[in-house]
Amino acid sequence: MLLPVMVPSRLILFLFSIFILISNFASSQQGTANHFCLNEKGNYTTNSTYQANLNSLHSSLSSNSETSSGFYNISVGQGSDEVHAIALCRGDLSQDTCLECINSAIDELITLCPRQKEAILWYDRCMFRYSNRSLFGVMETSPERTLVNPENASDAQQFTNDLSDLLASLRDKAASGGSARKVAGNSTSGPLLQTIYALVQCTPDLSEEECLGCINGAFDQISGFLGRKGAQVLRPSCKIRFETEPFFDAILVDQEPVAPQAHVDEIDKPESLQYDFDTIQSATDNFSETNKLGEGGFGSVYKGQLPNGQKIAVKRLSVGSGQGDLEFKNEVLLVAKLQHRNLVRLLGFCLERSERILIYEFMPNASLDYFLFHPTKRERLDWDNRYKIIGGIARGLLYLHEDSRLRIIHRDLKASNVLLDAEMLPKIADFGMARMSELDETQGNTSRIVGTYGYMAPEYAMHGQFSVKSDVYSFGVLVLEIVSGQKNSCFRVGENVGDLLSYAWRNWREGTAADLIDPAVRDGPRNDVMRCIHIGLLCVQENVADRPTMASVVLMLNSYSLTLPVPSQPAFFMHSILESSMSSSSLGYPNSRVTCTSNSKSETLPLSRNEASITELMPR
Ligand SMILES: *[C@@H]1O[C@H](CO)[C@@H](O)[C@H](O)[C@H]1NC(C)=O
Ligand SMILES: *[C@@H]1O[C@H](CO)[C@@H](O)[C@H](O)[C@H]1NC(C)=O
Ligand SMILES: *[C@@H]1O[C@H](CO)[C@@H](O)[C@H](O)[C@H]1NC(C)=O
Ligand SMILES: *[C@@H]1O[C@H](CO)[C@@H](O)[C@H](O)[C@H]1NC(C)=O
Ligand SMILES: *[C@@H]1O[C@H](CO)[C@@H](O)[C@H](O)[C@H]1NC(C)=O
Ligand SMILES: *[C@@H]1O[C@H](CO)[C@@H](O)[C@H](O)[C@H]1NC(C)=O
Ligand SMILES: *[C@@H]1O[C@H](CO)[C@@H](O)[C@H](O)[C@H]1NC(C)=O
Ligand SMILES: *[C@@H]1O[C@H](CO)[C@@H](O)[C@H](O)[C@H]1NC(C)=O
Ligand SMILES: *[C@@H]1O[C@H](CO)[C@@H](O)[C@H](O)[C@H]1NC(C)=O
Repeated sequence: MLLPVMVPSRLILFLFSIFILISNFASSQQGTANHFCLNEKGNYTTNSTYQANLNSLHSSLSSNSETSSGFYNISVGQGSDEVHAIALCRGDLSQDTCLECINSAIDELITLCPRQKEAILWYDRCMFRYSNRSLFGVMETSPERTLVNPENASDAQQFTNDLSDLLASLRDKAASGGSARKVAGNSTSGPLLQTIYALVQCTPDLSEEECLGCINGAFDQISGFLGRKGAQVLRPSCKIRFETEPFFDAILVDQEPVAPQAHVDEIDKPESLQYDFDTIQSATDNFSETNKLGEGGFGSVYKGQLPNGQKIAVKRLSVGSGQGDLEFKNEVLLVAKLQHRNLVRLLGFCLERSERILIYEFMPNASLDYFLFHPTKRERLDWDNRYKIIGGIARGLLYLHEDSRLRIIHRDLKASNVLLDAEMLPKIADFGMARMSELDETQGNTSRIVGTYGYMAPEYAMHGQFSVKSDVYSFGVLVLEIVSGQKNSCFRVGENVGDLLSYAWRNWREGTAADLIDPAVRDGPRNDVMRCIHIGLLCVQENVADRPTMASVVLMLNSYSLTLPVPSQPAFFMHSILESSMSSSSLGYPNSRVTCTSNSKSETLPLSRNEASITELMPR
């Protein structure tokens, strides 16, 4: 027996009914969430730095994701506004699944507990908690939740004995795990052909004694229920669970994690990211036309498949080689470190025989423009989808601007540079191109303009001045396009031909902004849709200083109680100025002409389609 049963079961039943009463259940893609918002630990106010820090947890998590142990210690901000967070995944998850779970937990918990400084949430697959105090290395047993299956197991007495032995061995094994992982899971055969599955896990920042203490206490909570078909106890520092059905992968639970440093070392070595030309040549069938996905300002993009079966997108740069080989490698290594769930991952590069090639993860669902501007495919993007896409792009851009180690200004954000993953969630492509193609990213003035008609902030298009606020402008255009389903550069609604921004502004002024909404999403919650139009208009304001930062945008998207400023007049896109400068100074890329054609003819799935990119445009 693991521990004596000391608590009278009637008391336990009483406690259990209290748990049910105060339980807050919520459902999401990750399944049922159990959570607590801890009112007594203090509240934060709307718009506070603390709130902004909470909203940056995603990006801190992704810059923290070099560990593969499934345990994350994250902190954001400083002083009394610092947010401390801890996340722990079940022992059998891949890193991707784990991060996906934690990212959902972050979103859900912030939504469920909109005021509380401290909160905790458990999904089946992961636990996530945050507070304004440090949580690392502190053993905590409350708040606690106990869940019990009401059904009895067959031969409950024998079942209890077999289960107790199993839990005792798992407890000892988990507690003795190292500082990276404290988890154990196994199964045993119970009476009458039943199999008992159980999992025990502590956060690995605990000592062996602390872990034992936490698990023993949790065991007490269910000691009266060991004859049931399943039960679990969830505590901040540990959890135990048993079932008569498998609920985890025993083989993976038993695997040692990869040493936390291994991944970092690997990425610091250029060799591990460098592919040889022959590999890329055969992966793309010698850059065959059939594998070509598109042509962009920086070169052509091909679909490919590595010998191990991995699908890739290959960008063969056409830009001259003013930059030295070493510089190119260094820039690629830096950009490859930018990892965020809303950025397309750069996997490596190839540098051989004057070839400069970038290798990216392949995205199966093409780009946003492919759906958004297609007469029928746009229907597949419902409002829920579009809203998630807007939020994802905002977070990806915020990471580039503020949370990554480099400050990256994208300079060419547009619908065709937003790719969609298998769940139709967005990833930004083509970031860091300026660094990797010898355009100087560090100065705020440039004579070489990279950008796309309709998305470029006027101060950039006309004077070459770029800043994070020129990206914010492009983001604003994109938001208005997503809401309206209309291309800014090829706008047409009934009689109205012109540009989307003037149309949006006029309707906003006249109180008819709802006319802007794409009929395909007219059933979306009106408040959310109108709020997006409002945010879009704030981003495209003519006065650069009035445009919000991406941090404010993320905050505005997340908090409904926030009152938004009134937008001032947008910077209307000046066709005549741009068109004349384009015709005189575009450097001869065939795709730099403005076209209004739909992309629907192409069924291929590009890394980035770029039919109207202005590659180099000398300001006057
Ligand atoms: C956390 O916030 C509460 C309430 O605002 C405050 O009393 C407490 O001192 C804060 N803790 C830390 C460590 O800042
Ligand atoms: C925080 O707000 C909740 C209501 O939202 C309130 O019940 C609680 O007392 C507040 N906590 C503190 C410490 O002020
Ligand atoms: C939130 O911040 C914005 C600008 O940063 C400000 O205009 C607004 O008044 C603030 N709202 C609240 C409720 O504090
Ligand atoms: C965990 O985060 C806290 C800040 O919240 C920090 O002081 C501590 O050093 C971190 N521990 C580890 C092992 O990273
Ligand atoms: C489970 O067993 C207990 C006692 O062994 C009994 O009182 C209870 O009614 C049983 N519950 C169910 C759902 O069969
Ligand atoms: C699971 O339990 C069986 C039987 O007790 C044992 O042989 C096996 O080694 C255990 N597996 C793990 C991963 O602990
Ligand atoms: C690949 O194509 C180039 C020209 O497009 C040709 O010169 C070369 O021989 C081809 N290589 C292979 C291995 O087919
Ligand atoms: C997105 O890609 C996934 C996986 O390839 C596919 O199952 C799904 O149908 C695609 N969605 C759309 C809308 O094309
Ligand atoms: C950019 O150039 C303009 C005019 O040449 C100058 O006034 C401005 O200070 C420059 N800005 C930066 C950041 O170098």
